[in-house]
Amino acid sequence: MTDLEVALEDMLAVERFDPPAEFTRRRSVEADLAAANADSEQFWADAARDLLTWEKPFTQVLDDSNPPFYTWFADGELNLSANCLDRHVAAGRGDRVAFHWRGEEGERRDVSYAQLLADTERLANGLRGLGVVAGDVVGIFLPMIPEVAAAMLACARIGAVHNVVFGGFAPSAVRERMEVSEAKVLITVDGARRKGRRAEVKAAVDAELGDLPALAHIVVVRGPGEHPGEVPMTPGRDIWYDELLAAADPHCPAVSLPAEHPLFILYSSGSTAKPKGILHTTAGYLLGATYTHRMVFDLDADTDVYWCSADVGWITGHSYIVYGPLSNGATSVMYEGAPDYPDRDIWWQLIEEYKVTVFYTAPTAIRTCIKWGPEYPGRHDLSSLRVLGTVGEPINPKAWLWYHLVIGGGRCPIVDTWWQTETGSVLISPLAGVTTTKPGSATRALPGISPALLGEDGAPVTEGTGILVITRPWPSMLRTLYKDDKRFVETYFSRFGPTTYVVGDAARLDADGYFWIIGRIDDVINVSGHRLSTAEVESAIVAHEAVAEAAVVAEPDEQTGQAIVAFVTLAGDRVGDASVEAELRDHVARRIGKLARPRRIIWADDLPKTRSGKIMRRLLRDVAAGRELGDVTTLRDPAVMAVIADRVRGARDDEE
Ligand code: WTA
Repeated sequence: MTDLEVALEDMLAVERFDPPAEFTRRRSVEADLAAANADSEQFWADAARDLLTWEKPFTQVLDDSNPPFYTWFADGELNLSANCLDRHVAAGRGDRVAFHWRGEEGERRDVSYAQLLADTERLANGLRGLGVVAGDVVGIFLPMIPEVAAAMLACARIGAVHNVVFGGFAPSAVRERMEVSEAKVLITVDGARRKGRRAEVKAAVDAELGDLPALAHIVVVRGPGEHPGEVPMTPGRDIWYDELLAAADPHCPAVSLPAEHPLFILYSSGSTAKPKGILHTTAGYLLGATYTHRMVFDLDADTDVYWCSADVGWITGHSYIVYGPLSNGATSVMYEGAPDYPDRDIWWQLIEEYKVTVFYTAPTAIRTCIKWGPEYPGRHDLSSLRVLGTVGEPINPKAWLWYHLVIGGGRCPIVDTWWQTETGSVLISPLAGVTTTKPGSATRALPGISPALLGEDGAPVTEGTGILVITRPWPSMLRTLYKDDKRFVETYFSRFGPTTYVVGDAARLDADGYFWIIGRIDDVINVSGHRLSTAEVESAIVAHEAVAEAAVVAEPDEQTGQAIVAFVTLAGDRVGDASVEAELRDHVARRIGKLARPRRIIWADDLPKTRSGKIMRRLLRDVAAGRELGDVTTLRDPAVMAVIADRVRGARDDEE
């Protein structure tokens, strides 16, 4: 064993990590916790006055007269982009770097708050010129470049509702999201690079979205790097981003908007094939992002250099790359590329170079780094780091300890932040330097948040496992599913009534009242921290002409947490072979995105069904996880499972 392996082994026995002395001397949040416990509404009202700049002060705090449709600060008015930009510039901090951007090929751009404000104002005017008015939906499909922040803030400035789609999704997934939300404008890029390869994004967008009736304009950013070839531009409909900005009036005063004005829609996977349009509104969302970004990471905007490695197309990017950090006036790093391009040193090189102090990433990334080996971080000076965070999936204690030792040098508190697209901001997490941590546990609720565990029967669980719920509304909670109040109520508030938000995760509470998140209890798969719906993947597979039927489940995976396994029966006398398999994987990549490609396809003559014809996914999950099969007697044809189990074993043996 290496020295590191010995140290990790020894540490596995350590159950608790107390906050380092240099934090505890400096930091206390006792007052917040006491205030929030005494009166959470008053606590949030004080925080909203303290942290946000209002155009018109609010007099109402929470309105809970019509659960689960809650409002916060409803008679107040503010502008989110003014909170993220103008107030910092007005306070003389215009020259402060908002983003140290680094391109895949090493290009550098430092974007100051003043520059970001100037771009935001021009783009806001440009969008107005294209006919966008408050309440209109604007789609954003961009890679990790500073323009993505300007695009989001420009929408917020004029009250347009942004709908960002993760750059890794396929154009057909963009189409679906633009079509359902009736986006009027789409802001995209001519081409995007990934690990040295170029994708012609605009051409692909045209092919998929060209005929959407509501989509009046496409704004095209010139992305970084070489620009080979012609970019198709339809006169009257398409316009270059830089030309739009150059022609626009530089001054666009921020519009004073009601606190509950819709801010954005973000589509996320649920238990059906149709993604859910999660809707967040202005003030409550911004308060959640601002407060938690400051408190959880112990942020000092004057001295910290912060880096969240997520993509802006996920909620983590919305709250902890754009809104939280900018509202707090922080300086962030933004990296365009992958963690192993141009080489496996790049993350650690960036931390060393920009002297990053707070680093926030996902467990799956940490596990990948473990696989690559400690030599990459080992040859860089990471001594600037003082706080580390993780998000997206449970972190196994071994990965936690590796992060703690190898990246954090044994001195940085780790915040394992639990939250969701729906919650808008972190709800359960240690506070850096305050909370005693236990590797693998997201620890306790943040001030003002009330999580609980319930049994199947709804009875509270005080120790042991249960269904995770939130029993009181919080400011940054989703307000509804876009244009689908019914599905909103059904999904989150039907099981235990309209005042109990059902998260969709199971968790365990230990004797100290610490939460240990177990994972999803619905048909959602978490691959590398990305949420995917089994139904969505199934419907993509079934759409292929060779397929008769498909069932998708997750199997545990050391690196990605979960991986997708598809059980497929083919139409007619088609035979499953490597070429059909490649075709199906490619087909899913085109319909949803590469991240949804099944890792393993198992050909089945039939799927396990109950007598009423319902596919029993539970059995398929057992088989995929290598568990003993449960009861098969309720199956219409119990022999089906034996054949499938055999094939899965065969596929595993082939791999070894
Ligand atoms: C999971 C990502 C364990 C969980 C911010 C949740 C986690 C889903 C953690 C939301 C964590 C997120 N520990 N599990 N620290 N953070 N999850 O909407 O299952 O993409 O319900 O939001 O990720 O995923 P979403």
